[in-house]
Amino acid sequence: MNPVPPELGPNAADVAVSIEGVVKKYHDQTVLREVSLKIRRGEFLTLLGPSGCGKTTLLNLIAGFAEADSGEVFIDGRPVTSDPPHLRKIGLVFQNYALFPHMTVERNIGYGLRMQGVPTDEAARRIRDAMAMVKLDGLGHRKPRELSGGQQQRVALARALVIQPKVLLLDEPFSALDKSLRGSMQVEIREIQRRLGLTTVFVTHDQGEALAMSDRIAVMSAGVIRQIAPPAELYQSPQDPFVASFLGDVNILPAYYHGKGAGDVQLRLGSGLISLSQDRLVHASHEGERLDVYVRPEHLRLENLHPASVLSGTVVNHVFQGDHINTFVDVDLPMTARQIVTVRSPGLTAMRQWPVGSVAGLALAPEGVSVFSPQP
Ligand SMILES: Nc1ncnc2c1ncn2[C@@H]1O[C@H](COP(=O)(O)OP(=O)(O)OP(=O)(O)O)[C@@H](O)[C@H]1O
Ligand SMILES: [Mg+2]
Repeated sequence: MNPVPPELGPNAADVAVSIEGVVKKYHDQTVLREVSLKIRRGEFLTLLGPSGCGKTTLLNLIAGFAEADSGEVFIDGRPVTSDPPHLRKIGLVFQNYALFPHMTVERNIGYGLRMQGVPTDEAARRIRDAMAMVKLDGLGHRKPRELSGGQQQRVALARALVIQPKVLLLDEPFSALDKSLRGSMQVEIREIQRRLGLTTVFVTHDQGEALAMSDRIAVMSAGVIRQIAPPAELYQSPQDPFVASFLGDVNILPAYYHGKGAGDVQLRLGSGLISLSQDRLVHASHEGERLDVYVRPEHLRLENLHPASVLSGTVVNHVFQGDHINTFVDVDLPMTARQIVTVRSPGLTAMRQWPVGSVAGLALAPEGVSVFSPQP
């Protein structure tokens, strides 16, 4: 057994990769700021964040292509800083981690096995298994240029899997593929990953892809992990305004803290008061304090205007999206410049009942609301 650092706690055996207080600088730019992260054995963890936030850098630290300025990376409980990449048993599929153009598919896939000195018979069997797994049977003698983009990514995946990695790192592996191929590759990779119980770190800046594929998502911005949680929790209970607006569409409405009730808090919004469960208000506040209410389009509902309607406005447009309709409403808010909110409705009724130019009330589902202090 490998020694396990005590700070991992009692579940240390369940942790495949542990990143502890990692700082990475390039010249005078700090790219990772004391990042800590534990990746569970068999977990599919996604790093999600805008371009330049440090996702690839974090993968490079796990793979051994870059070294941290401080902090430590553990794989199976062992610090790996002094291990070169080829000793870490890590499978990599990078967007730009090109195949060797002069080698056949089989030779490309077997590359890591030859590096490890795996006997020829065993290598041949493992290459065959890996090719079957990613559905490349019959293409072993082709050169990469004779394959489609999707097939080339399958070769890259087989090459990563054939070494029986402890951890699979996928850096935007689908970014060059068209939308439908992307969708089917997502399903396939997830299926293979589950079947093998393979610890996987997946990088994307596509929020839909992250929500669809992950056990947990770590949302990053500017070298920091803002929140790490399962997709539904991240979507429903963002702890941070960046997370709330990066993941899914959100309307941001100005509100004012009113006071506490029994187990809930009240905010002044539009022309009335709304009550929210205590846990929706991230920062407790003093009366009259300006706050921002974050509400997703599907948590707003059009209704006939009545005296108790907190929010109301004029319908400015309906956009048919197939499975739902987005309605844009110019809301009436006291002391605020013109603001358009998006309301998502499941059927066509909204379009007929509130035609463009009509006035509608807006009801909001309190469980779909998050509240943060206004961002500078
Ligand atoms: N080898 C390097 N030398 C200098 N700066 C680097 C190097 N690699 C990355 N950086 C810088 O570090 C920051 C983070 O880069 P990184 O590649 O990790 O971002 P990313 O989140 O993967 O972005 P993207 O989504 O565009 O791939 C960027 O500002 C980048 O310019
Ligand atoms: Mg990157």
